[in-house]
Amino acid sequence: MLSVQNLEVVYQDVILVLRGVSFDVPKGQIVSLLGSNGSGKTTALRAITGLLDTQNGDITKGKIFIEDEEITNAQPSKIVQLGIAQVLEGRRIFSELTVRENLRLGGFTANDSIDENIERVFTLFPILKDRDKNTAGYLSGGEQQMLAIGRALMSNPKYLLLDEPSLGLAPKLVQQISELILEINSQGVTVLLVEQNANMALKISSHGYIMETGNIVMDNPSSKLLQDQDVQEFYLGLNAEGTERKSFKDVKHYKRKKRWLS
Ligand SMILES: Nc1ncnc2c1ncn2[C@@H]1O[C@H](COP(=O)(O)OP(=O)(O)O)[C@@H](O)[C@H]1O
Ligand SMILES: [Mg+2]
Repeated sequence: MLSVQNLEVVYQDVILVLRGVSFDVPKGQIVSLLGSNGSGKTTALRAITGLLDTQNGDITKGKIFIEDEEITNAQPSKIVQLGIAQVLEGRRIFSELTVRENLRLGGFTANDSIDENIERVFTLFPILKDRDKNTAGYLSGGEQQMLAIGRALMSNPKYLLLDEPSLGLAPKLVQQISELILEINSQGVTVLLVEQNANMALKISSHGYIMETGNIVMDNPSSKLLQDQDVQEFYLGLNAEGTERKSFKDVKHYKRKKRWLS
């Protein structure tokens, strides 16, 4: 299990962004972490994978565990070695390199099995095999996302953290990516799925956490969240129509609800 306990994160010594965030990602499951833009999702992932340093961010409270090992403030390379891989927001790939070169770079920690892993990624994403020697920058958005995920898989992770893999993709591709996430999970990889697309994430995850301004405001089995009226209204229904999301705090019975949650 990946366990985040009471995590507080501050940027530039003064900007408090996570205010005591706790969540668990049990082995073998897909767990989603939802929330609108700026709620702190990426920051939570950075804290887990040791990337806060690069952003002048610090963990000021709380702990992170992988299985029984504490990894709070561990070096990024150590975290990769322990089996955690992250696909960064905005599908960052090396656009001047070929597909295969991108994959090789992702496999530097698992040097012995690079060719084997490339074949595994190509089996999962046949389209990448067809583009093997193509320059990554010329791939479509969906193919670049697959390449970013494939690159993360090159380190043979036990835990895969995905930061908004559906962002900017057409509905058909979102569907394809979500099927791929299910396939990766069925091969034994535990997934923490960060999404603004609550509908997609809740359909494939077993449990969901909802973040708002640095707090987890709700968590439940995904099937329950999918049926929850507030989640429907604020993350599913309105979002589908493209209308601006409101805050849970605007819901009249928020306070009542909050009491159930605490
Ligand atoms: N490097 C940074 N320095 C200062 N503030 C940041 C930095 N990165 C993110 N933030 C702020 O932290 C908050 C949470 O951001 P983020 O974790 O990116 O949220 P999300 O991924 O949910 O959109 C936002 O208010 C954002 O402006
Ligand atoms: Mg983000």
